[in-house]
Amino acid sequence: MKALIASGGRGTRLRPITHTQNKHLIPIANKPILYYAIEAAVDAGIKEVGIVHNADSLEVPNYVGDGSKWGIRIAYIPQETPGGLAQVVQLAENFIGKDNFIFYLGDNMVVGGIKKFIDDFQKNSCNCLLTLAKVKDPERFGVPEIKDGKVIRVEEKPKSPKSQYAVAGIYVYDHHIFEAVKSLKPSPRGELEISDAHQYLIDKGYSVGYTEITGWWKDTGKPVDLLEANRLILDNIKPRNDGEVDKQSDVAGKVIIEKGAKIINSKVRGPAIIGKDCVIENSYIGPFTSIGDRTEVRNSEVEYSIVLRDCKVLSVGIRIEGSILGNDVEIVEANGKPRVHRFMIGDQSRVEVA
Ligand code: DAU
Repeated sequence: MKALIASGGRGTRLRPITHTQNKHLIPIANKPILYYAIEAAVDAGIKEVGIVHNADSLEVPNYVGDGSKWGIRIAYIPQETPGGLAQVVQLAENFIGKDNFIFYLGDNMVVGGIKKFIDDFQKNSCNCLLTLAKVKDPERFGVPEIKDGKVIRVEEKPKSPKSQYAVAGIYVYDHHIFEAVKSLKPSPRGELEISDAHQYLIDKGYSVGYTEITGWWKDTGKPVDLLEANRLILDNIKPRNDGEVDKQSDVAGKVIIEKGAKIINSKVRGPAIIGKDCVIENSYIGPFTSIGDRTEVRNSEVEYSIVLRDCKVLSVGIRIEGSILGNDVEIVEANGKPRVHRFMIGDQSRVEVA
């Protein structure tokens, strides 16, 4: 069993963060989203992983490396333009060969690992196993139609969904998927759709099984999804303190404080993570907050937010909530009279002021 992970695409819904960073490297609880996919494969005993990345950037290969830090081998497969998930599979044919493989969309997160999906695939001798999750908004996803316990149809982002399920971005295949992806024509949105490949397998009479994801699963396509995934991961952290907390501070609940971080005269209410060499002074860090390495928060309050590395949040007079701050962002008090807001904000940013 090999694993194929998709890390290409443009991440347009996560701009402006994705103007300067591949979306799969955005941290959730201070760990890149993509690492959750890699570690799920490692935990399932997989030793060979292929990662498809945008051909015009080596950001992912340079950041992730050859896999030796997890004791596995990672091969990189460039994709010239994001032509769809079925194209991602096409590109991986040489890497996969005749092996069975798990195809994992690098922006998906699932709790409880993927071993169960591989076991179900093998137990049921499927050609393809889909993982399904019940959602409120199936029209955002590939949607199965199920009859007598069988998937009889899969539609991509249908206007009238035939079930409440989304096909999650974790699939298990044997080599027949290559026959399917090679038969496709681009969809109206110009992509080779993975849902059409699944429909091809169904139409040709191949065995397409499914398993329901009963724990949580998230597609982190939009900013609110990132905050929600951050909440869910932080909820399950094991607290530890490798930094310094002074006597005037109060740390309650599940909190990770990394090496070199200093908490001075502040209140941290977990679950939360404070990255390496951060300084939190005269401040409040509320539940479900991740603070990236070397960030300073002074005289301010931050809650239910993701703050990336090297930020400065200084003397902000109102609590920051439900926010995502990119790398090197500064939110600081304006000096002088009259009292003003002064902005220096990049393209496609969003600021809400009270
Ligand atoms: O998350 C599950 C959904 O993922 C499924 O329910 C849909 O059937 C499936 O089509 C897909 O829908 P999305 O619209 O969410 O896919 P998205 O374009 O966001 O791409 C998913 C991942 O694959 C993301 O990590 C980017 C990467 N990707 C995407 C394309 C189109 C590539 O690496 N190359 C590509 O060409």
